[in-house]
Amino acid sequence: MNFHVLTLFPEMIENGMNTSITGRAIGSGLLTLEAINIRDFAYNKHNKVDDYTYGGGAGMLMQAEPVYLAYESVEKRIGYRPRVVYLTPQGQVFHQSMARELAREQDLVFLCGHYEGIDERVLEEIVTDYVSIGDYVLTGGELPAMVMMDSISRMVPGVLNNQASGETESFAGNLLEYPQYSRPEIWHGKKVPDVLLSGHHGNVEKWRREQSICRTFLRRPDLLKKADLTNQEWNMVRQWKKQSKERLKAQLSEQQEAMQKERETDENS
Ligand code: ADE
Repeated sequence: MNFHVLTLFPEMIENGMNTSITGRAIGSGLLTLEAINIRDFAYNKHNKVDDYTYGGGAGMLMQAEPVYLAYESVEKRIGYRPRVVYLTPQGQVFHQSMARELAREQDLVFLCGHYEGIDERVLEEIVTDYVSIGDYVLTGGELPAMVMMDSISRMVPGVLNNQASGETESFAGNLLEYPQYSRPEIWHGKKVPDVLLSGHHGNVEKWRREQSICRTFLRRPDLLKKADLTNQEWNMVRQWKKQSKERLKAQLSEQQEAMQKERETDENS
């Protein structure tokens, strides 16, 4: 996988990516990374790449030409039109299946905006994918690009030591990962669940699966709807739903009773 990042802050990308697992993968050649400074393609003597917006409005806009020339330098070198991801809060929200799909590409270009954004005309010409990493606004596209490259890298064969890999972890099959424990057996009075110490592989697997489903039910019920569960597992979820409804109902009627008692005491005083 070859990552090409068009940015005004190449050192931010290089420092972030040349660290930890992605850094090791770059070192071993499984990934390549080039951070291309858009400013190197400025066509004026002051290396200026931004200007005022037509029609008025606050802030500056990145101009089309330097961005286009930076992109073109990549296209010429690799000899074909690659997918170009523009990081923007207006894009489709990034998720695991998008990472899996993008990991199949040979080259990926990430375009990082700054200031108030980038001249629309160059976006129309080069961008293939508009992607947001969530519904909040950041100061630039560098962090989102690094978030995407990190999760895409995990899908590249050989990048993770343990090639059971990304797919068995959180979000695989739309279930969250089960809780995990390491030594010591008791910490702050909390004991590791007995089943994990039992050495019974079948029971461990069963417990983990149930924990994954339960965790997803409690923390991300939206994901659970898309999960691939057996009929027996769906029954278990229905049971939990019923129990939590009953618990809520009980809490509600307790509250109502307490309020009623308060009113009665007020009336009698
Ligand atoms: N640029 C600024 N905010 C962003 C976000 N949430 N996702 C992607 N790119 C961005």
